Amino acid sequence: MEDPTIHEFLHIIASLPEPYKTKVQTMWDIFGDDFQIMPASNRFHSNFPGGLLVHTVWTIRIAKFMYKRFKAMDSDLGQGLDFKLDEAIFILVLHDFGKIYEQTITPYRDHVTWIGEMLNKAKIGLTEKQAHAILHHHGGYGVKGSPPTKLSTFVHTCDNWASMFLETVV
Ligand SMILES: [Fe+2]
Ligand SMILES: [Fe+2]
Repeated sequence: MEDPTIHEFLHIIASLPEPYKTKVQTMWDIFGDDFQIMPASNRFHSNFPGGLLVHTVWTIRIAKFMYKRFKAMDSDLGQGLDFKLDEAIFILVLHDFGKIYEQTITPYRDHVTWIGEMLNKAKIGLTEKQAHAILHHHGGYGVKGSPPTKLSTFVHTCDNWASMFLETVV
């Protein structure tokens, strides 16, 4: 029987609209065998084989939960979101793919710097806002001179809730 987390992840990919679905399917076709056995971290969160997949799925579960509630808010915030949930899920699927190279290639480079090369290898283009959201998924104001966007902050927040709240055993 297929691992339930892999099943959920593949369902997430299959449920995305185009062009997101083809792009993440291409990444999965190239890197999926490694992606599904990697830990998310060697110390802090989901630090077991398959942890990277578990972490990624958690970020998307949180995204679905949070986005729905923001949208339901009777306020400017609820009406003013300038990205769709599908776009955030697309970014969250991709955001830590660089950890495959981070953990297997020497000399060490941070996964945020690896993702660009992996996307190039897969011939996948991103909009400026999407690339920014991946590069800034660890958060912060004015990282590398560019301020956060609503999309990058949302992605960062989902990543943080997953890694630091749900997955980290203190
Ligand atoms: Fe990360
Ligand atoms: Fe992450």
